[in-house]
Amino acid sequence: MEIANRQILITGASRGIGRAFAKVCAQDKAFLHIVLRQRDEEIVKELQEAGAKSVTIYEADLSSRESVDGLLAQLRDVPVDILFNNAGILTGGLLEDQPIDNIYQMFQVNINALVQLTHGILPGMLSRKRGKIINNSSVSAYMNFPCASTYAASKAAVAAFTNCLHLELKDAGVTTLLLITPAIKTRMFDEIETLYGKNFQVPQESMSPAKYAQMIREAVLHDLPTLEPAGLTGVGLKVAKFIKPLFDFEISRRFRRNS
Ligand SMILES: NC(=O)c1ccc[n+]([C@@H]2O[C@H](COP(=O)([O-])OP(=O)(O)OC[C@H]3O[C@@H](n4cnc5c(N)ncnc54)[C@H](OP(=O)(O)O)[C@@H]3O)[C@@H](O)[C@H]2O)c1
Repeated sequence: MEIANRQILITGASRGIGRAFAKVCAQDKAFLHIVLRQRDEEIVKELQEAGAKSVTIYEADLSSRESVDGLLAQLRDVPVDILFNNAGILTGGLLEDQPIDNIYQMFQVNINALVQLTHGILPGMLSRKRGKIINNSSVSAYMNFPCASTYAASKAAVAAFTNCLHLELKDAGVTTLLLITPAIKTRMFDEIETLYGKNFQVPQESMSPAKYAQMIREAVLHDLPTLEPAGLTGVGLKVAKFIKPLFDFEISRRFRRNS
């Protein structure tokens, strides 16, 4: 799908991957609708200067169902062409050490809000026979590391949800793009060491959000159903999917239950 002149809705656009992709879409002269927890005029200015046709901010806390209801009500008359479900939270560490409130909040943002937004936006896309839903999953959905139990479960849910929709939307004019996102150098990436580092030797390689945003752009323009990592992470992903005992053996060597 083209990005130029399209109405693009992006969650988690305040920083990281969401902000980088918003900038790429602005450079392509799209109409941007960005979801932030708090208004930020700096972001509007940045996107306008980059070339956006328009920038509209929606304030919403995706950890609240009522807030997502309110967001959908505000979007009622917006003919969204591309929905990028990007916002996410990281949880991690040994399961018994993870506060249950954090786990609930993470599932709400990472999967419930994503499903609710898709549920609300999809009917309009179907009636216009045009649309794309981009869901940000993670390599953790398939590469199941220790210390990632809750976060990986949310991202596996995102992957399964998107794969099912992909089949369900055949010939409907609406497509999906599943991002099996590798390590990207954002605030979330920095949190991995803090949450996992005590028990698990975390891989250090990462890509810039700007570079990853360009890869997402290419995947949108070429209507790819999935964006998978290349390189070493790509090999690791294939091992995790197809030779699981080898993956588990290798990963278990990096894990210590007691630090
Ligand atoms: N970075 C990686 O290595 C990596 C790898 C795999 C997958 N991903 C996925 O990529 C997506 C983007 O992550 P990122 O790396 O760009 O992380 P990030 O820099 O931490 O950005 C997370 C974004 O989500 C928003 N968000 C968090 N909680 C929210 C809430 N309750 N309501 C509304 N917005 C909320 C944040 O907004 P605030 O500024 O208001 O907090 C922020 O814009 C996530 O879904 C993540 O799981 C990232």
